Parts: sequence; structure tokens; C-alpha cells
Amino acid sequence: MGKIILGFSLWSFTLHLFLIMLKADFPGNKQGGEGKYMKKVHPHIDPSVLVFFTPSDLKVGKIIPVFFPTTNAKKSPHFLPKQEADSIPFSLAKLPSLLEFFSFPRDSPQAKAMEETLQGCETDPIKGEIKLCATSLESMLDFLRVVLGHEARFRALATTVQYLRKPASSLLQNYTILDEPKEMVATKMVACHNMPYPYAVFYCHYHESESKVYRVLLGGEYGDRVDAVAVCHMDTSLWSHSHVSFLVLGIKPGSSAVCHFFPADNLVWLPVQEFRGEM
Ligand SMILES: *[C@@H]1O[C@H](CO)[C@@H](O)[C@H](O)[C@H]1NC(C)=O
Repeated sequence: MGKIILGFSLWSFTLHLFLIMLKADFPGNKQGGEGKYMKKVHPHIDPSVLVFFTPSDLKVGKIIPVFFPTTNAKKSPHFLPKQEADSIPFSLAKLPSLLEFFSFPRDSPQAKAMEETLQGCETDPIKGEIKLCATSLESMLDFLRVVLGHEARFRALATTVQYLRKPASSLLQNYTILDEPKEMVATKMVACHNMPYPYAVFYCHYHESESKVYRVLLGGEYGDRVDAVAVCHMDTSLWSHSHVSFLVLGIKPGSSAVCHFFPADNLVWLPVQEFRGEM
């Protein structure tokens, strides 16, 4: 387990968009609320939630403040082989023995993160959602086959961030859309969010409701470049009034589609379009 622990101890910032979205609450947020009021409280919002925008923002020259967390692929935990992953319990009830197994004190940040990951993974799916926390690459691929179809081939999209300087000048920057956003047309999509855990765990989910996937080329105010993957959820009418995206954007459920950028360690899976006939 030595190798695993090495990567794990280097977790730093792992606030996950999906956790924010699941919790969908924000202290002090009144039901509905006033767009203007929300805009005013902007400075007090955790900057890591500044990932939202609306489809009307998707045009060349538009400036959007976005937070892209730093990720270091070399330091993030690796997938275990399925057999090994399956031999380790993955349940909140087993947390005390898991902490012992990985040698983390109960009150350590790692213990807290493991607890949150297991909680998120054990939460029931919302209506129209199919989800799985994949603890190995094989189980992620099995999930994709179930959701996207056994006959389909898949491709993964991910945001790539090129910082001009390292460390980054600022994780929160104003980004300008540099190029015409490109819609990645697909019948279905599965988003997989990297979760903090001693080995690689991805929270993968699919929603029945319509969504659109885009690639957006962004230029940061400090010269950084981001080839970003974004998704727009077209129907927000059933979302909670207190969903953090409404707070950030100052809009109400159902009044607009809500889009967000993905951090670099997330994967968006699409079925590969099969072309019939000659090309
Ligand atoms: C982005 O630009 C706006 C308008 O100039 C400014 O008010 C805001 O502070 C900037 N945000 C960031 C994160 O730099």
C-alpha cells in the first residue's frame, strides 16, 4: 500500500463540484431570493463554485470568472486493479477499519475526505439519475457499457489547463472565450468526478434530462490557456431553489439552462458516433 499512501498524502484541494451540487444549499440563502441580492453577496461565495454560466455566455469574446482547481496527475492516486479494489470494503459502515488499514488518524483531513466520499457514494440517486462510484477502471467501463450501450465505443473528454507560470497566478481568473464554442453532439453522456480517496475513485453519473456538452477555448487574464469541457443542463425547472448555481448566476429554476465547466481531473464520456456507409 506504500505507493498509494504516497499519492494520497498529497491531496490538497479537493472540493468537488458535484458535492456542492448534491448538497445544493448555501447558508443564508433565502428561497428564490433576488438576483440582485445574490450578485451582491458574490464576494462571500466560496470562489470554487465560480464555474457556472448560461448558454447565452457561450460566444467569442465573452468574459466569465472561472475557478479551475489545480490538479497534478502525477500525484493523484492511481486506479487499483479491479480484483484488488474489490477486495477492499467500500462502505461508510467500514470507515473505522478502513482508516486503520490506510493508517489515517480518525481526525485527519484524509479521514474526513474519505467519509465525505463514502457518504456521497452512498447517497441515493436523484430522480432520472443513474450513478456508480467506480473503484477501478474496469468498473467504470462496465458502467459506461450499461448506460451508453454495449455496442458503443466511448471517448473521454477532459479539461486541460496550461498555466503560463507554476504555481498558477490565480485559480480564480477572468477567462475570455477565444474561439467559437464547439458542441460535442452525442445522444448521451456520463460525467465522472474524481473523488478524494486513497486510490482512484470516480463518481460517475448519467441524467435522463437533456444536456449538451461543449469544448470551449479560454484565455485567462494572466495568460493561462484552458481547453475546457463544459456541460449545459437544459432543464433546471426541478432543481432546488437554493441550488448554488442560481445563487452564482442570480437566476431562478427553469428560467435558463445552467452550464458549468469541469475541473481537469474529471472525465466526460460520450459514445463515439458510428458513421454508416462510406466517408
Ligand atoms: C473580472 O472582471 C471584472 C470586471 O472588470 C472585475 O470586477 C472582477 O473583479 C474580475 N474578476 C476576477 C476574478 O479577476
